[in-house]
Amino acid sequence: MPDIHLVTQQELMRQAPYEEQVRAYYRLRQKTPKACIHTFGCQQNVSDSEHIKGLLAQIGYVFTDRDEQADLILFNTCAVREHAEDRVFGNVGALKAIKRRRPSVLIAVCGCMAQQKGVAERLHAHFPFVGLVFGTHVLYRLPELLAKALQSRAPVYETPESDGVIAEDIPVVRDAGCKAWLPIMYGCNNFCTYCIVPYVRGRERSRDPQRVLQEARELVQQGYRDITLLGQNVNSYGNAEGYGVRFPQLLEEICRIPGDFIVRFMTSHPKDATEELFDTIARCSKVSRHCHLPFQSGSDRILKRMNRGYTREDYLRLIRYARQTVPGITFTSDVIVGFPGETEEDFEQTLDLVRQVGFASLYTFLFSPRPGTPAAQMEDPTSAEEKSARFQRLLRVQEEISQQQLAQMVGQQRTVLIEGRSGDYLEGRLPENKIVRLNGEDALIGKQAVVRITSAGNYLLAGEICEILS
Ligand code: SAM
Ligand code: SF4
Ligand code: F3S
Repeated sequence: MPDIHLVTQQELMRQAPYEEQVRAYYRLRQKTPKACIHTFGCQQNVSDSEHIKGLLAQIGYVFTDRDEQADLILFNTCAVREHAEDRVFGNVGALKAIKRRRPSVLIAVCGCMAQQKGVAERLHAHFPFVGLVFGTHVLYRLPELLAKALQSRAPVYETPESDGVIAEDIPVVRDAGCKAWLPIMYGCNNFCTYCIVPYVRGRERSRDPQRVLQEARELVQQGYRDITLLGQNVNSYGNAEGYGVRFPQLLEEICRIPGDFIVRFMTSHPKDATEELFDTIARCSKVSRHCHLPFQSGSDRILKRMNRGYTREDYLRLIRYARQTVPGITFTSDVIVGFPGETEEDFEQTLDLVRQVGFASLYTFLFSPRPGTPAAQMEDPTSAEEKSARFQRLLRVQEEISQQQLAQMVGQQRTVLIEGRSGDYLEGRLPENKIVRLNGEDALIGKQAVVRITSAGNYLLAGEICEILS
């Protein structure tokens, strides 16, 4: 079935002359252009930024992490909470001085905020020195947009509304290390009442499984040892397309690729996570024994108002099944505190669910009204102080659970993948996603090792390396 979302080869080829125009622009000025990219938000944005870097590198850009040295400063933004937006506005505002000193620098804003209704107008009004603004659906047209922005005196704004596209064969520059992001689908159809993502990322659409498998094979050949499959709701992979391959089958096919690597996936929506998913994880030893399964609230009343499509009992049943089927599996989750109309009783239900499940860790968010979403219109009588007090209570409960879980691991010998360095320590990741700090040389990064857990802190484990495996 032809994919209506797929950007045609012809359309992609249309970008080549624009790449040449950007090269010519900098050749004339006898310089190698430098780009500084700031990425906010989720892994989808991190992956998008890797593709933006790919497109820029193909043109001839090199990269810097210093705004002062850059010819292009680009913000890839997130709109999920007001706080994320405020940070971007603050950061962009702070560049006014750089633009005054070096008028030739091009400041660009892209991503979910740029795609959001009304934000382009706000940017235009408050930050007229921003030279390029583009939305999530036109990323593959970056060469064209850059060429236009460099040649024009007026800012270029390109934020068309769209159900979304799939652009294949976009070059990619991945961040160094042994971990790789692999998008398998884009967009979201769930319209949880608090969430802006469906409005800024378009409809759910899945990549052809053969394309995903090919990219996974290439990643393994290139030496990546930790591959995370990305989508807002990976469990509805292929629902719209009828590829005949659903998420569990895709996972299994990826695990059949020869090589020594771990596969992770995120995010799973509880309404679409099936028993078959956990049966598959149990069969496939390359799949991480960890699942990020956002529950958002422990109260059925609030879950309904959130339009989540499951009850707390559905959620708990799934966790029970997963634990029976995949021994040792760990869970992390997202939860929103202070959703409009959340009562003390509703909140107690959230605390109770957190205690019952025993998450390895939690991403906790205070409800942030997003303009244009139904929840932003709902009555919200609870005071900010009360919400903040609930938030703190939740943090304390989870902290205790995490500490207990980590303390129980002291003395165990486990296999980790050494992912990188953080300060003085190497960081190894256990299959269930916990981090172990280790002493050692950078040469060990990318290797698997047997380690002994020697101590546990609030969020981290410390260990010593017993044996390097591969
Ligand atoms: N698709 C994923 C899912 O459904 O679980 C999550 C996507 S969202 C980018 C990440 C998290 O942000 C959500 O799970 C939710 O907890 C949080 N979030 C989204 N909108 C929010 C809002 N308006 N206020 C507070 N937190 C929000
Ligand atoms: Fe947002 Fe819900 Fe879609 Fe997740 S599933 S991206 S929370 S609308
Ligand atoms: Fe991700 Fe933020 Fe967009 S969480 S999908 S970058 S709104």
